[in-house]
Amino acid sequence: MRLLVALLALFAFVAAVAASPSPQGLSFYDRLVSWPFNRLLSDDFDFWASAKALGHNITMYAEKKLHDLALEIPAASTQLDNFKETMSSVITTSQNLRGDIERHCEDGITLDDISRKLSSELAIVFENLKAEFSLPLPEDHNVRYEEREKMIDWLLDEVEHALVSVLPIPEADTRRSFQEVRPHIKHVILITGQLVDNHPGMFEMILFSGAALLIPESWLLRPVLSLFGFGPYGPVKHSPAAWAQRRFFGGAVTKDSWFSMLQSAGAKVISPGIGKKILGSIGLGAGIVATLKGCGTR
Ligand SMILES: *[C@@H]1O[C@H](CO)[C@@H](O)[C@H](O)[C@H]1NC(C)=O
Repeated sequence: MRLLVALLALFAFVAAVAASPSPQGLSFYDRLVSWPFNRLLSDDFDFWASAKALGHNITMYAEKKLHDLALEIPAASTQLDNFKETMSSVITTSQNLRGDIERHCEDGITLDDISRKLSSELAIVFENLKAEFSLPLPEDHNVRYEEREKMIDWLLDEVEHALVSVLPIPEADTRRSFQEVRPHIKHVILITGQLVDNHPGMFEMILFSGAALLIPESWLLRPVLSLFGFGPYGPVKHSPAAWAQRRFFGGAVTKDSWFSMLQSAGAKVISPGIGKKILGSIGLGAGIVATLKGCGTR
């Protein structure tokens, strides 16, 4: 009798794990091991702090996952390479924009300050986007492409406008530098849309990889790319990004999935209270995270 109860309990547990959200690329074993923690902690973990704390490991993890996806689904391999290369152009051109800020910067302004201001500006933009494009994503793939393009152009105009008001450099320099970043951001969103339309199973891993790869220039790219659903929150922490994910890509990544993907990239399970302290002190110290050179710090 006891054995029967134990077997039933085991069966129920395994069934629950199997039925729980399953990000592409996570093995059943990964999920089995992380499942109880997900339930406990995914409500209160800080995705970006945990991701940054992984340093280069998260970049390597994302690149490996994209590589694995390409082997698994050869029809998508060209687009996946394109995605990776375009993300790397996004990073390089964002670095140049940061260089411009460093050359002009006023004493006492930190990259963190700039990033925070940008996030608040973009939170307003995000609300306007919801009002402007309130209809659901069209079914037809060609119509989707055009609709995405319209939304991306609309948003990137707004991002440029926000940057002009937030960056401590002359307007002409902001516009010129952003013109370098802008086409790559547009391209990466369009590629993501096509990948997800043709291979819906890749959705979660593509968004996760995008979020992981943007980390080196996250001061700019976290608030900007979260407008398009890259990452679990909108431009301001704890505002959900699910609306953007549905509107741009036709699905939404659950918090549990963000959490399990982060865990399989190697993030430690740290209870939220302790996490705040530890991750706060690691914070921007992780080697790959951009800092502002030559500007005073407060
Ligand atoms: C990165 O991965 C290596 C090898 O798995 C591990 O030893 C190291 O602790 C990881 N670093 C971080 C910051 O998680």
